[in-house]
Amino acid sequence: MNLLDVDGLSRSELERLLDLAVEMRERRGDTTLRGETVALAFYEASTRTRVSFELAAKALGATTVDLGVAGSSVGKGESLVDTLLTLQRTGVTIIVLRHAASGAPYLAARATAARIVNAGDGQHAHPTQALADALTLREHLGGLDGRKIAIVGDIAHSRVARSNLQALTALGASVWLAGPPAFVRGFDAWPGATVAPLDEALRDADAVMTLRIQLEREAGGGIPSLREYVASWGLTEERMGLANRGAPILHPGPTNEGLELSADLASSDRSLIGRQVENGVPVRMAVLALVAGAA
Ligand code: NCD
Repeated sequence: MNLLDVDGLSRSELERLLDLAVEMRERRGDTTLRGETVALAFYEASTRTRVSFELAAKALGATTVDLGVAGSSVGKGESLVDTLLTLQRTGVTIIVLRHAASGAPYLAARATAARIVNAGDGQHAHPTQALADALTLREHLGGLDGRKIAIVGDIAHSRVARSNLQALTALGASVWLAGPPAFVRGFDAWPGATVAPLDEALRDADAVMTLRIQLEREAGGGIPSLREYVASWGLTEERMGLANRGAPILHPGPTNEGLELSADLASSDRSLIGRQVENGVPVRMAVLALVAGAA
């Protein structure tokens, strides 16, 4: 199978994947993916997602290859489909794809026989990040049922926000969204989402997630200036005072401290940002095992 989005996963499938991720932490010298060749095809920049997929594949005994888009024949004009077919013909069985075009993994899944894992497509979806975040929250809060989770900032351009919204609501949480009008427009129509002023979204929240402004997706047009954004939407310890006592702050990374959140908050006791990164490896082990039919 492929993992293109979280929207196709039921609550019990999501929970099973999170349970499998927990189990994966204990695995040593595992050979679940022996015989599989995992290609990392990242057409957009990535640190944590790319590294954790590579380590996850290796931890389960797969061979890995990094396409290294910048130094590949992509620069000679080769199309996405031709590039992925080339990978398949050289023996790649699983392609982890990140691409600026929303929907690229769906095209890839139709065009090649390799299994496709979506590592982030445009502003559409980032399923493994949502799984890592859901695991982080489930462990910290003891469960997501009936929890109030606030997501603040550039929701409109964020594949992380969309996938988290779907995964967290499927797991029983209510998700509150706050940001400048251009960053939340239309999200009232999303099942399980409530768009609200910042104070209301933060009030009594069990956890708060903030996001980088996706300037590469032309998000800059949605705000008057970065300075005004910080003044109105930047998260600080003081603003977090509205949330439940000790409510954690999450961020998928990379953070821009001093913009979407203060440096103090990012390094405070509330911060689960490091834990989100740590959970990325076992979650991706679980996903790779699932798509390989070995879960
Ligand atoms: C995010 C992404 O690329 O979607 N990063 C990540 O994978 N953890 C978020 C971002 O780039 O802002």
